[in-house]
Amino acid sequence: MNKFILLTASVSFAFMSIAFAKGDDMFVSSPSAIYASNTHTKSIGMLDLGAKVNIMNKKGKWYKVKVYGWSQKGLPSVIYAFNGIRIKKAVLTKDGEKLTKILKVAKDKETGLTWKEVELKTAWINEKYLSKNMKKVWKRAITLFHNRCTMCHALPKSTKFTANQWPSTLRVMSKRAALNKQQTDFVSKFLQYHAKDTIKFAK
Ligand code: HEC
Repeated sequence: MNKFILLTASVSFAFMSIAFAKGDDMFVSSPSAIYASNTHTKSIGMLDLGAKVNIMNKKGKWYKVKVYGWSQKGLPSVIYAFNGIRIKKAVLTKDGEKLTKILKVAKDKETGLTWKEVELKTAWINEKYLSKNMKKVWKRAITLFHNRCTMCHALPKSTKFTANQWPSTLRVMSKRAALNKQQTDFVSKFLQYHAKDTIKFAK
């Protein structure tokens, strides 16, 4: 009995001493290529800024992750963050699509479109593109938003629009605010993840 307790204690101690735990969430801090295996030769697509991933393993500087999200019927190459909400998490090649599994099929009542909950079963990504703390990553977007979106009018609330509505407004406003493509992506993703219909999920 005592021996058993000792063994459990030492196992959990060993588990805690590693820098991550299987099943932990991390977030993509900068868009990155993803790979089918740890040799990272064959790209299977990319993960987008802000995408939440599930850690499965780590070898050297590379994380093995799972990605959960939603795809629109007929467009299996794009994984979005939520059902019916077009915040891009992943764009997959044909080989990447083969690594996905459909978990659930749901019809959107408002639009009549069919969405599928999907799991990207395995992808390898370099540690420099992942962060444990998305709040730190959003700092850059928030600074741009506050500095550049207040030159002509008051700062709009991120909850003014839904996640699906923000990109079209941003396309016009980013030109007015002279944001480059990367800066636009940061502000756009920040607003989408903090929009009227997504703020409740915000990390
Ligand atoms: C150079 C001036 C300028 C800058 C910089 C600017 N805007 Fe605007 N914005 C406007 C004007 C003018 C309007 C009024 C509507 C129109 O003309 O499109 C507006 C309207 C808006 C609206 C309301 C749209 C609606 O349909 O109610 C939002 C939201 C908005 N801007 C967001 C932003 C964001 C986000 C940024 C920063 C990326 C930004 N704006 C930067 C000039 C600007």
